[in-house]
Amino acid sequence: MTDIARPIAPVPLSGGDGPASSGAVHTVALHFSDGVERVLQVAEGELVLDAAIAAGVGISHQCRSGSCTSCIARLTSGSAEMRSGSCSLLASEKAAGHRLLCLTEASGPASFTLPYGSTSIGAATEAQAFINTIEQLASDVVRLELELADGFWLDFKPGQFIQIKVPGSDAMRSYSIASTVADLPRIELLIRLLPDGLTSDWLRNRARPEDVVSLSGPYGSFFLRAAPATIPHLMVAGGTGLAPMLSMIDTLRARPGRKPKIVLSFGCATRDGLFHLEPLELRQHWMPSLETRISIDRGAPEDGVRVGNPVAAILDGPIDPASVAYLCGPPGMVSAARDALEAAGLSPENIFAEQFVAST
Ligand code: FES
Repeated sequence: MTDIARPIAPVPLSGGDGPASSGAVHTVALHFSDGVERVLQVAEGELVLDAAIAAGVGISHQCRSGSCTSCIARLTSGSAEMRSGSCSLLASEKAAGHRLLCLTEASGPASFTLPYGSTSIGAATEAQAFINTIEQLASDVVRLELELADGFWLDFKPGQFIQIKVPGSDAMRSYSIASTVADLPRIELLIRLLPDGLTSDWLRNRARPEDVVSLSGPYGSFFLRAAPATIPHLMVAGGTGLAPMLSMIDTLRARPGRKPKIVLSFGCATRDGLFHLEPLELRQHWMPSLETRISIDRGAPEDGVRVGNPVAAILDGPIDPASVAYLCGPPGMVSAARDALEAAGLSPENIFAEQFVAST
């Protein structure tokens, strides 16, 4: 597999606007979850993310345009607002003080908390991979199994995503990894097929086993946190939002010692759209502390499949307020799940979310 090790095009990782003025300079403190504080001097009109990158501070980011939410942080004091324009933050997240640092300017001293440690975010790397398998799992879901070519490696945390360069275009598309680091060099992705999607068209019409794709990663601050096995884990997944949950569950399963109680609530729109039911059932056998609740929005209930949404299903039982929660799926589902779990007593700091938004 060494014969394909050729130079690859650089992945466009930049894109933020530069400093806009030479006026006042503001002190911005970044507080990481491991207790480390980094202090930046941010010029009036400069984006906080740009200042952090220039200072060599490891901040999760990817699109630098407000769409991926990788650079989310919470403003805890001071004044810092986001530039107007496209922003994928949920209304509830904004209300809770969250900001996207790639859009945020400071207008005075400010402090932010980051939902990860000061050394959690490593540099993304570029790699090439072969297609091992393209498998249709449901009416609109494909499992794409890649295998890194010789000479390439990509470490990641369970829950993070990679970008692949869609062959035949310059477009990059982001997909959460469904497999674990232990599975490397194999990488598994679950991809939702869209009627006019670029990746969907490639998968339907041109992608073949043994083809080579360029990718980069890992990205994102949505990953499994270190938590004692006594802390229950709640997971709410909509559609291909199941992918990062599989990576987290399999990572927890592989760890020695006591396993945490995990409730996974997984939902799809219709019965045709449901997938991975057998692998989920197997995981329940392998790890008795895992409980799965499967939902469809519409259709007739059947054995093991309830009608309703995955947010209602996660609430269908006692909720320990000390739980840690992971939410991944469409923005509406993520917002509803966050609201419901906060209302059930979970701390906002213990709720981690990734929204899936279709690229255009
Ligand atoms: S880097 Fe994507 S929203 Fe900020």
